[in-house]
Amino acid sequence: MGENTLEKFVITGGKALCGTVDISGAKNAAVAIIPAAILIEDECIIENVPDIKDVRIILDILSSLGAKVEKLDANTVKIDATTLNTYVAEKEIASKMRASYYLLGALCGRFKKAVVPPPGGCNFGIRPIDQHIKGFEALSCKVEIKHGSIYVDGEQIKGGQVYFDVVSVGATINIMLAAVRAPGVTVMENAAKEPHIVDVANFLNSMGANIKGAGTDVIKITGVEKLHGGTYGVIPDQIEAGTYMFAAAATRGDVTIRNVIPKHLEAITSKFIEMGVEVAEGDDEIRVCAKGNLNKINVKTLPYPGFPTDLQPPMVALLTTVNGTSIVTEGVWDSRFQYVTELEKMGAKITVNGSVAVIEGGHPLTGADVKSTDLRAGAGMVIAALCANGTTEVLNVYHIDRGYENIIEKLTNLGADIKRTDD
Ligand code: EPZ
Repeated sequence: MGENTLEKFVITGGKALCGTVDISGAKNAAVAIIPAAILIEDECIIENVPDIKDVRIILDILSSLGAKVEKLDANTVKIDATTLNTYVAEKEIASKMRASYYLLGALCGRFKKAVVPPPGGCNFGIRPIDQHIKGFEALSCKVEIKHGSIYVDGEQIKGGQVYFDVVSVGATINIMLAAVRAPGVTVMENAAKEPHIVDVANFLNSMGANIKGAGTDVIKITGVEKLHGGTYGVIPDQIEAGTYMFAAAATRGDVTIRNVIPKHLEAITSKFIEMGVEVAEGDDEIRVCAKGNLNKINVKTLPYPGFPTDLQPPMVALLTTVNGTSIVTEGVWDSRFQYVTELEKMGAKITVNGSVAVIEGGHPLTGADVKSTDLRAGAGMVIAALCANGTTEVLNVYHIDRGYENIIEKLTNLGADIKRTDD
């Protein structure tokens, strides 16, 4: 489970990406659906699971809790949680990823109790869980943080009503997991609407749950006693798709991104059209073609269906290639511009003031040694390197491996000059 901190990507920029790329299953759906299987005392087969580090960690966590986990092929996993026998998650691995907080809802939903260490994952400022706690309390659970772990006591768990003060993907899914088998009716208001929330609800409903309204800001869950097994396919990864859209536009390439749900990418598509990037949508593919200079823009990240925070670094990388001043405002996370100092090493002219980045684009980037400071910042760094003159070494790529399946192969197929080394 150790992170190879020596591994880096060596990228020689300046090549327009061309061709087709197939998008994998959604990381943020998979890392919720896999713990959701804890609620099912039966066999489920989950298809289109991305083969990435975060998924391997959550599968290991399920095994360590006593579930039978079997990989049927690189992207299909069979989970039978009937044998899962503890509600206490081990500190060593659970703290390796942010999504381990889903164990709180899943274990509490199954055993009426959960003990889970605080979540790890990308570091971009304080990542509170007060809305998760508010949700558990609305379901008549007691939550305590002691001995370095979060304890949920759900002996009295029952449906309840919660109005979230903040739109939170994690809290919405976590309370959904806790509520599906809780007696009575749960109503979540001001719920998050991301596609992976709908995907988790679809997964649970296909296994016998009764969840209505996922994808809107009011979700109603009527508790059921038991869930049954079945087979389910994870939706395509909208953030991975968006990342390749940005790589195509930034290198002024022509890329068809296949196995996507174009509706999930509308926030990006509409910004691309404003910038003068050509975007053609098919049923399950999007072609992105960019030439010459593009138009500067302003953009603010927001919860779905707004522009996704996870594509903010790729957007900033693209805007460094666009003449004029663009403004990017981060509206979800307090502190998600740390990576900008890395882009500056490549010659980017960016001023950050709190949650606002002002990008003076059009100054050519040049190769440098840069660090991937978190997963999506790493994607931004790779895109910047693909546009830069000369060779860039992107360090700390273990962050990127958490979320991008076969990124080297996919980019190489599009004509990028990129390789992985660990010297
Ligand atoms: C999910 O994180 C994603 N992770 C993140 O993607 C993504 O950036 C984020 O949603 C926003 O879209 C996973 O799905 C595993 P939130 P999550 O709870 O659920 C505040 C990636 O790179 N908040 O929606 O942890 C919080 O501080 C990762 O794939 C509270 O105030 O995010 C933030 O400002 C990085 N109290 C905002 O809400 C809480 O109890 C949104 O957070 C919870 C959150």
